[in-house]
Amino acid sequence: MAVSPEEFRGQARLPLFASPLRYDLRLRPDLSACAFSGAAAVVVIISAPTRFLVLNAAELAVDRSSIRFQANARLSPSEDLAPSEVVQFEEDEILVVGFDRELPVGEGVLTMDFTGTLNDQMRGFYRSKYEYNGESRNMAVTQFEAVDARRCFPCWDEPAFKAKFKLTLEVPSELVALSNMPAVKETVNGPLKTIYYEETPLMSTYLVAIVVGLFDYIESSTLQGTKVRIYTQVGKSNQGKFALDVAVKSLDLYKDYFATPYPLPKLDMIAIPDFAAGAMENYGLVTYRETALLYDELLSSASNKQQVAITVAHELAHQWFGNLVTMEWWTHLWLNEGFASWVSYLAVDSLFPEWNNWTQFLDEMTSGLKLDALAESHPIEVEINHASEIDAIFDSISYDKGASVIRMLQSYLGAERFQKALASYIKKYAYSNAKTEDLWAVLEEESGEPVKDLMTTWTKQQGYPVIYAKLNGHDLELEQVQFLSDGSSGPGMWIVPITSCCGSYDVHKKFLLKDKTDTVHIEEFTASQSADAEKGKNFWIKLNIDQTGFYRVKYDEELAAGLVNAIKAKKLSLMDKIGIVEDSYSLSIACKQTLTSLLRLLNAYHDESDFTVLSHVTSVCLGISKIAVDATPDLNKDIKQLLINLLLPTAKKLGWDRKDGESHLDVMLRSLLLIALVRLGHDETIHEGVRRFHICIGDSKTSLLPPDTRKAAYLAVMRTVSTSSRAGYDALLKIYRETVEAQEKSRILGSLSSSPDKAIVLEALNFMLTDEVRNQDSFYILGGISLEGREVAWVWLKQNWDHVFKTWRSSSLISDFISSVVSPFTSDEKAVEVSEFFADRIKPSFQRALKQSLERVRISARWIESIRSEPNLAQTVHELLQR
Ligand code: BES
Ligand code: ZN
Repeated sequence: MAVSPEEFRGQARLPLFASPLRYDLRLRPDLSACAFSGAAAVVVIISAPTRFLVLNAAELAVDRSSIRFQANARLSPSEDLAPSEVVQFEEDEILVVGFDRELPVGEGVLTMDFTGTLNDQMRGFYRSKYEYNGESRNMAVTQFEAVDARRCFPCWDEPAFKAKFKLTLEVPSELVALSNMPAVKETVNGPLKTIYYEETPLMSTYLVAIVVGLFDYIESSTLQGTKVRIYTQVGKSNQGKFALDVAVKSLDLYKDYFATPYPLPKLDMIAIPDFAAGAMENYGLVTYRETALLYDELLSSASNKQQVAITVAHELAHQWFGNLVTMEWWTHLWLNEGFASWVSYLAVDSLFPEWNNWTQFLDEMTSGLKLDALAESHPIEVEINHASEIDAIFDSISYDKGASVIRMLQSYLGAERFQKALASYIKKYAYSNAKTEDLWAVLEEESGEPVKDLMTTWTKQQGYPVIYAKLNGHDLELEQVQFLSDGSSGPGMWIVPITSCCGSYDVHKKFLLKDKTDTVHIEEFTASQSADAEKGKNFWIKLNIDQTGFYRVKYDEELAAGLVNAIKAKKLSLMDKIGIVEDSYSLSIACKQTLTSLLRLLNAYHDESDFTVLSHVTSVCLGISKIAVDATPDLNKDIKQLLINLLLPTAKKLGWDRKDGESHLDVMLRSLLLIALVRLGHDETIHEGVRRFHICIGDSKTSLLPPDTRKAAYLAVMRTVSTSSRAGYDALLKIYRETVEAQEKSRILGSLSSSPDKAIVLEALNFMLTDEVRNQDSFYILGGISLEGREVAWVWLKQNWDHVFKTWRSSSLISDFISSVVSPFTSDEKAVEVSEFFADRIKPSFQRALKQSLERVRISARWIESIRSEPNLAQTVHELLQR
């Protein structure tokens, strides 16, 4: 048994001898003074004798004299104890309350009063600013995930300490105050009112939420009768209609999918003007950025619409996966995020089948594959030793790789079996916590398949394999090697669900590759095709059908040639076409394949007209055009022209103007292609964008620039060098200042820094630091920085680092500064310079981002070397240009 508070210092987890059962919380936020006061009474179970209660608290002033522990609370007379020592370890964010004698095993009540500030850091209990009747106002908002509930009230702030919460808020009478549960009682006392909320079911601290401010709402309800509301700033509630519709339908869908009803009496969703993440799944009170919730028929783009649908579906999936069943510890964060991401595609696919959402899912998988090809990646299940490490794992590994390995497993087990098992898992762990292994155990039991062995290779080990496929007579020889973008081969080994098709999607095989190598006999495989077809024009073998597996494939020359023919002959599915171009691009970056052959492959996509495929093709094109600037300055222009030629025919067909009855995906495609052509420097597209922009400035009602093509025009304006780029910047800034729409503001911010003019890039970066740009929006400007501006941006970052760190350190947004500014460099010398600068500035919150960015720089440097030594590059570019 502990004898001194010191023994709790530096521990990653709270001790288990005391745990909370129920919190009675009273909070009084003062919105104008940006402060709050509170009182907590926590029913605690003492399970082993202790002299200490150890819980979390951060940036709170806990009034020592108010602390009492009523031991044996259920017995009368109970004992009322005052602490003999109270110690707060700021670094570990814990509060140790010591008594001069042992607390008896059983139930007790800990009471305490405390005060804190409504901070401007977008975490804990914070204030967000909005305008009402032309005046600036504050609202009070909570954001507790991952470890910031402790900034609002002292608590056992770990996901496994589930408890019930009974909240009471004292707020100005004219404001709306929301929390997880419906209000049961409200009493008005002059300018203040007191609102009492129903007690929550058992839940984790990170899901508790409060919002206080002025709002409008719209309402609807599910088949089951759950009331669903969307709250927005006053006057904007119409923009909540789309999200409301998606929310109601998703709740109905999830109820069936998980075979469990939505667990709470109501669901509120609310748009918050200052919000660090995209959205947060607080139980019964989901908070969003405005851009992720609001949709306006006239002002939002098709891609805004998709983003809203996906985000709503994601957060609502968490109400089951995450909120009802919660990960036991942050090591299993992916169970929350990977699953919610995967399920959101399932829901949106069912609501909007015409969006071809599962094919779009390959965007997520691509991000996961890219990050996981770095040596500085991490396993899906990642060890957490300190609270400060948690924020950094809300990354593409937890989300995208997580979702992708779930898709892989579902496709291996079959959709029906998979759903049944998930429903059992939810039932078994409802109101409780689960680890990754618990999920595997349920899936294994339901399916009879070796789920645990299979999946452990994917979740406990970082990285993934590339499968080398080689044809040897009638044998297809396969070998797995860990894929790394730096060209090295890691030691990893996986159990890989291999699927393959030969010559037709009707002829397929599937098996588990368990060893390093294996051989597939394709004799009977090919026999089903006509004899002359074999090795002839129609002969092709595609592995990883529809990219359900989280791996890449490197084909030998003969197989690769067969696939190029199959693409040209339009034999392949959209997903397979995407997989081939993505794998090939990555293999080039890793110098396992030449840029020359990648360009030849791209040529096979020249009459592709599908959005989902072209979105990958364009991103590959833009990647190539960037590296070409440093790798082959002489060929740079020709390569750009080649890529323009590839995209132009389809872009021309679509034009700038929307056509009646056009599909959602064609609207997305137009926007995608115009933006890509502007970025590639296509003069005609740039001129047309600028022309439309100028008409639009003179006449804001013109239909020449609807939301879907506006970003392309804005970029065109900024990409125009000469006097007009200055004028363009000013014109865009004017629109930025005049609009109140967050999505429009984000489009402009994303364009401002894309000028080739370094002075303008610098101006955009400085503009980001003014209070005209919300801290939540910095990443738009950072993400838009032009290649020409990368050096200016780096110098700027060094000069402003102290301020940047101070302002953004408490959210993962700090990582965006590092990755956006550092990753575009392409030389080893620069990598050295950057690491030297950060050597004595490094912090756990952005350490991973820095290491990954530096690794990317070195990978580019190596790729450039290899491109320079490609003997046939120039000749191939010129040959392809002739076509
Ligand atoms: N739980 C997260 C929000 C979050 C992220 C909290 C990082 C703390 C740190 C939420 O469910 C989420 O994943 N939001 C996504 C949106 C989604 C569509 C992927 C986000 O914020 O980007
Ligand atoms: Zn999530």
